[in-house]
Amino acid sequence: MCGIVGYIGNKKASPILINGLLKLEYRGYDSAGISTIEKTGLSTMKDKGRVKNLYNLPEIDNLEGTIGIAHTRWATHGKPSKENAHPHMDNTKTFSVVHNGIVENFNELKKLLCDNGYTFYSQTDTEIIPNLIDYYYKKETDNDDLKFLRAVKNACNSLKGSFALEIICKDYPDNMIVVRKDSPLVIGKGNGENYISSDIPAMLSYTKEFYLLNDLEYVVLSKDDAKFYNNNLEPINKEIKLIDWNASSAEKGEFEDYMLKEIYEQPKAIRETIGSRINKNSKCEFEELNFTKDYLQGLNKIYFVACGTAMHVGLAGKDMIEKLCKIPTEVDIASEFRYRDPLIDEKTLCIFISQSGETADTLAALKLSKECGAKTLAITNVIGSSITREADYSIYTHAGPEIAVASTKAYTSQVVLVAMLAIYFAETLELSAEKTTLLNSLKEELLVLPKKVQKTLETSTEIKNFAKRIYKEKDIFFLGRGIDETVAKEASLKLKEISYIHSDSYPAGELKHGPIALIENDVTVISIMTDHKLVKKTVSNIQEVISRGAKTLIVTNQQIDTDMFDMVIRIPETSTFISPILSIIPLQLLAYFTSKEKGLDVDKPRNLAKSVTVE
Ligand code: M6R
Repeated sequence: MCGIVGYIGNKKASPILINGLLKLEYRGYDSAGISTIEKTGLSTMKDKGRVKNLYNLPEIDNLEGTIGIAHTRWATHGKPSKENAHPHMDNTKTFSVVHNGIVENFNELKKLLCDNGYTFYSQTDTEIIPNLIDYYYKKETDNDDLKFLRAVKNACNSLKGSFALEIICKDYPDNMIVVRKDSPLVIGKGNGENYISSDIPAMLSYTKEFYLLNDLEYVVLSKDDAKFYNNNLEPINKEIKLIDWNASSAEKGEFEDYMLKEIYEQPKAIRETIGSRINKNSKCEFEELNFTKDYLQGLNKIYFVACGTAMHVGLAGKDMIEKLCKIPTEVDIASEFRYRDPLIDEKTLCIFISQSGETADTLAALKLSKECGAKTLAITNVIGSSITREADYSIYTHAGPEIAVASTKAYTSQVVLVAMLAIYFAETLELSAEKTTLLNSLKEELLVLPKKVQKTLETSTEIKNFAKRIYKEKDIFFLGRGIDETVAKEASLKLKEISYIHSDSYPAGELKHGPIALIENDVTVISIMTDHKLVKKTVSNIQEVISRGAKTLIVTNQQIDTDMFDMVIRIPETSTFISPILSIIPLQLLAYFTSKEKGLDVDKPRNLAKSVTVE
């Protein structure tokens, strides 16, 4: 949540900062601001609303400084307003700060500062930080090069909660300090310049060389240098990481929206996620993993822990691991898992799924699992993200940057990766010959999947027509059984987050136990049917809603009598284990076209942000 950008070099900073903010707007978009160091001191401009309001300010062109910090906000403390927008300055206007995260002890700190004569002008927790830095700065007796850094460090030591900070100081016009704790921040190395960002894609057009920061590592930046310090302010070395995403992968190209582009990128994302991990005649390989048969046999449980769409991947994973490996598997929402004393120990494997690798609840759940002695495995799309740096093992989807708030290609790539993981576990466990045949056919299915995904995308025109019929509705229901119910959940989330239509998903068999009371004339019911063992049962449930006047859309690869339904979308056949990868695609498109029909901002739905780095 919240996007942070910074620049220090020889060029005018403001256009680079604005450009970075535009690329990071998916992280938060209720206000934006910028501070640069000018010849006259610090200059700050900010406004409520989208970044375009900021760059439309006539004064912005007057900023000449070559050092600057900028922020696009997703409000936590204080409503979206100009006063609450970042950057925030201290009372003496010596420091300017942008902050991503939450200061949990801000009331105590505010009292301390008020008692010492400081005044506050916003409702944010962030305004504490520049004033706290000033408070410690004034206590410094040595006027040496590290005075600024010591003041920042002392302030950070007083903060509870999470933060990624960029700080500039009018007394140090050639430097910027950055630090993070439980909130993302990377430094891109240029030629005689440094770029700072909360997300790699925003800086890809400038550099592919990044420094990845650990918690409470401080960086003093100048245009030619980046000096790294640990929390005791001892100098440390940092290696550069080369990120091989290309800049165009973070651009919309010929597509109207990122979401549509990302939906159409799914064949490629899946192909690249499979990579060389699967071959027809050999075992599935994960060079990052070294699980043994003994270890897997000794497991009491596997946990998938994640949020939102990533949690829905866990549901598909449970089905695969329990059926292919016979290991009891549970799925939990990270924000619940953390607070319910989960039964985990050294015989539990906890798998954390997160596209961004930065989701605060998932990260905290991971830390808790480690404390309880469990082994931890991260599945993410972002190399070097916080979750990968905490986990014992990390495996990556290779979906490329996902910019739209609604997750699409990350979901399907994650299901592919979890399927391969289940195959790898099953092969390591050396189960029966019958299982080997099943695993081999599943591998063959995975290898042809990108083509089938391409074919499934051809349903787009029919889906667009259906979207035209439903976009004015208030409630939509998604039904499925078994693996199709997990897709119903994901489809319902996708529709509600970008079309603002209330939708719910239910196991089809559960309908008669309550939800059917909501079915009345012309209500839309959407059902997924890909499991031949369950299709007849689901058809019966849909007949029950048709009798009560519902209009129906069916996504299926089964032989069914199509006459009774309003629309049937046919998708290619595949193994039930991996059918969510195909059956979700028409429903991603349905969410997209419904949102477009309503004239909404598909990529930046209201109240949401791409990566949820606060609890
Ligand atoms: O980055 P993560 O995968 O950890 O994010 C988890 C959820 O916030 C995310 O999947 C969210 O539910 C999406 N907006 C769904 O489209």
